[in-house]
Amino acid sequence: MTKKIEPGVLLTGGAGYIGSHTFVALVEAGYQPVILDDFSNSHPVVLQRLQQLTDRDVLCERGNVLDTSFVAGVLRRHRCVAAIHFAGFKAVGESVQRPLMYYSNNVGGLLSLLQAMETTDCRTVVFSSSATVYGDPATVPITEQFPCAPESPYAHTKLMCENILASLRTSDPSWRVGVLRYFNPVGAHPSGLIGEDPSGIPNNLMPYVTQVAVGKRSSLNVFGNDYPTPDGTGVRDYLHVTDLAAGHVAAVDALLANAQSFTVNLGTGEGTSVLGVVRAFERASGRTIPFEFGPRRAGDVAQYFADVSLADSLLGWRATCNIDDMCRDSWHWQQRNPDGYRNSSGISLNQQSGDLAQPKPNDPLLSPIGI
Ligand code: NAD
Ligand code: UD1
Repeated sequence: MTKKIEPGVLLTGGAGYIGSHTFVALVEAGYQPVILDDFSNSHPVVLQRLQQLTDRDVLCERGNVLDTSFVAGVLRRHRCVAAIHFAGFKAVGESVQRPLMYYSNNVGGLLSLLQAMETTDCRTVVFSSSATVYGDPATVPITEQFPCAPESPYAHTKLMCENILASLRTSDPSWRVGVLRYFNPVGAHPSGLIGEDPSGIPNNLMPYVTQVAVGKRSSLNVFGNDYPTPDGTGVRDYLHVTDLAAGHVAAVDALLANAQSFTVNLGTGEGTSVLGVVRAFERASGRTIPFEFGPRRAGDVAQYFADVSLADSLLGWRATCNIDDMCRDSWHWQQRNPDGYRNSSGISLNQQSGDLAQPKPNDPLLSPIGI
């Protein structure tokens, strides 16, 4: 019997939060994902976890996406038929402080990848964009036709990248481009083996709440309770990261099956307030989340959630998890990995929550794979 050839898909930034979950989804869908990451915001232990989860060697090339000839070499070596571009910086506040670093890595990184793809004749690309390109929408739900009005340097980098991709498509219709505008990805793989691992004080709500639940932080500061929303706190469209990962598989499938390029929102279409997340997390964890109301955070909008009908009709994709599922899996990940990937290595898939495995001597999972 001949072995089915698994098409290679390059994942720039594949060792990060969304990339690692997408790695698992691609393997399950019959692709051969190849990670390219410089580990500037991720930890090599994730590779061991991916090996455990997928029961296969994890292909990973350590390097910078700004190094075009390196990227071209990776595409050639692994005969990639498509690339998903996750690599980039994502902290809105930091982008205001260090705009050059953001424009250089996010816009420069995409340009470098596209040049490498052109020289290697690989012209199918999926780009990680963000709902932040819409700025403060006039109404909700937000469709893809809404005007873009980025407010931070980070948001500008995302829109610039979208524009670069649109120009490329116009210049050469053989490019197949999928732009995915994510709403608020949260949660973790249900195994508790991979998840979000922010360094320092989390900027985002869910990792902050999980750290309060586990006792690392004393209480949540709710940024504003005077918004024009049902309970006065900000409303967002939270999306389970495994649903988001499945959205990437649907995007790659669609681009490889036909030449149609697209820009789609990926969200659940449901809005949840900050207090709604707190209550859901309390249900999931059985713990009380202490919180206090503080002033609004600069740059925050009252509410946004997606119109997700285009993703459904174009890609046959829709979210399957609700906010309770997201909180359950975030909590599971946090309990099993109180310090994220730091101070840890492989943990057993069969272990109960909170019970971290002790790595065995000579355990192959202790050595980084392929880097
Ligand atoms: P992440 O920081 O966990 O992952 C990004 C990965 O890219 C990291 O592993 C980092 O080491 C790597 N990287 C950064 N610059 C690199 C470079 N120059 N060369 C090689 N590797 C590099 O972030 P994430 O949450 O997984 O986000 C992935 C993408 O999705 C980002 O582009 C982000 O802007 C976008 N996005 C994320 C969210 C979110 O809430 N997480 C929302 C909307 C859009
Ligand atoms: C933020 C980014 C957005 C990015 C997204 C990724 C800003 C202004 N926007 O969106 O560009 O795409 O993350 O997920 O940073 N909150 C609290 N207390 C906290 C943290 C958050 O009350 O400690 C509130 C916020 O005010 C907001 C909600 O929780 O109402 C969600 O916040 P967050 O997780 O940071 O996401 P966004 O602000 O939607």
